[in-house]
Amino acid sequence: MNEVNFVQASNLKEKPDVSKIGFGTHFTDHMFEMTYTEDKGWHNPQIIPFSDITISPANATIHYGQAIFEGMKAFRQGDKVVIFRPLDHLNRLNNSARILDIPQVDVELVHTALKKLIEIEKAWVPAQRGQSLYIRPFIYADDGFLGVSVGKSYKLYIILSPVAAYYSHGFSPVKIMVEDTYVRATQGGLGEAKTPANYAASLHAGLVAHKKGYDQTLWLDGVERKYIEEVGSMNILFKINGEIVTPELDGSILSGITRRTVLQVAKEWGYPVSERRISIDEVKDAYKNGTLEEVFGSGTAAVISPVGVLGYKGEDMVINDGKIGPFAQKMFDYVTGVQCGAEKDIHNFTEVVAEV
Ligand code: COI
Repeated sequence: MNEVNFVQASNLKEKPDVSKIGFGTHFTDHMFEMTYTEDKGWHNPQIIPFSDITISPANATIHYGQAIFEGMKAFRQGDKVVIFRPLDHLNRLNNSARILDIPQVDVELVHTALKKLIEIEKAWVPAQRGQSLYIRPFIYADDGFLGVSVGKSYKLYIILSPVAAYYSHGFSPVKIMVEDTYVRATQGGLGEAKTPANYAASLHAGLVAHKKGYDQTLWLDGVERKYIEEVGSMNILFKINGEIVTPELDGSILSGITRRTVLQVAKEWGYPVSERRISIDEVKDAYKNGTLEEVFGSGTAAVISPVGVLGYKGEDMVINDGKIGPFAQKMFDYVTGVQCGAEKDIHNFTEVVAEV
């Protein structure tokens, strides 16, 4: 019953020059689809031609936002295609599902379907280092009903997009504005879930930051506007006096898979690592007394993203002279090396899913 059916596209698209298309603009020929209804549960898993999807104008997700998503990546390693930590991503999808009251998916089935989809689309995985096939699973409530309630029917899709670096300027320091007016999430809310609401909450502040010349927003906690949370498209880490410090997972920030990777590897490299509350005042003090050595973000899309400028209340802290710090560089080289096969994957972070 849970066999993944395959309906082949009649026309295959021309593949784009990935170095020219940025992030999330082009999609492959096929996508995975699965349906949930109350009577049948999750059923009809199938790989079908990539196409628009049809929803009711009363679709519950459009009106009330009951949706979740994931982001992971497939890479070429010579004649192999690998995915970075796929099971961690699929388990996190189920954690988001729990928070949004979406029915749990069978991780094994979705994992099998994902591998089949990548096998079919393997020619779309870019071979150049720094490029990848971005994998976007998502689930939304599919009810055409205007009452505010938990959905009774859902759709799950996985779409694939060949991508270059997330930031158009590639691996170079970004300018981040510390946001002290707007709030992304608070404890007890949806912050830990990968759900559109968290991104919607970030759009206006992002626009304001852009207008002031910053690339992104660094969120503070929603209660005291004092403790560092995350950037929205990535988690944030500091190197202070030799120690790697990052906000603890308190329910209002995303449990990043790259964050997890960085913390594990940093410990193995012998760095002291601390997951704890860190206030913007502590960061400012460290900047003033010269112990703020590096600031960088981590995320699937961004990988490792050094922060060159941290703006707070109209003042810019220029980190490491606005240059890429040695730790961020070493970690970027390591993570991307494991992903592209240049570095031995001693942790089994990558899973081979196809041969080209
Ligand atoms: C990812 O890193 O996969 C993300 O989800 C960031 C995305 C919103 C672009």
